[in-house]
Amino acid sequence: METALHNKAMVKLGMMFFTHHQEHQETIYHTLRCAKMIKGFGSYLGYDELDISLLEKGALLHDIGKFEVCGETLYASRKLTNTEFALIKKHPIMGHIEGFEPEALAMKEQHHEYLDGSGYPLGLKGAEIHPFAQMLTIVDVYDALKYARSYKKSWNNAEIFEEMMRYRGTRFNPIYLDAFFKYLFEASFIEEPFDFSYKKAN
Ligand SMILES: [Fe+2]
Ligand SMILES: [Fe+2]
Repeated sequence: METALHNKAMVKLGMMFFTHHQEHQETIYHTLRCAKMIKGFGSYLGYDELDISLLEKGALLHDIGKFEVCGETLYASRKLTNTEFALIKKHPIMGHIEGFEPEALAMKEQHHEYLDGSGYPLGLKGAEIHPFAQMLTIVDVYDALKYARSYKKSWNNAEIFEEMMRYRGTRFNPIYLDAFFKYLFEASFIEEPFDFSYKKAN
């Protein structure tokens, strides 16, 4: 019964992607890349099949709230107004599909929260943030920097590494962050090993 409910939720999500694929192509491609990457990250960490499937679902679900913001605002290269920016920052708690597991929902609602409480929309801290959401935050930021968006160019891996390491232990869980970059290297997403002696935040 549970499984049927969960499968129905996935079908609804797929239909939502289909409905929004023209206006929100950028978000949907980002979502699919995050799902693929977090699956790989989970299996690199030795997670079992169930957890990997939850990680994938949470990543597929995480940005559906953006479908409620019009594409003209979301993908604008112009400077956003304060009202527009405030609306976009609510996307983790916007959009709802019945039937997703609590872990996947936590990933959706908490993927912009930071370890030190400086994230949004709730300003959660440390262990208040689900570990899967902490992992998704890292994957999400990596993808956002790696790929060009309407308002930014694509960054190379060295630039991303330097930027993300600045927030090691403040925004990002240091254990997941180190493991993520090791995973990227070992899964051949990047050619050069990272220098982990690089000035760490802590
Ligand atoms: Fe997001
Ligand atoms: Fe995202």
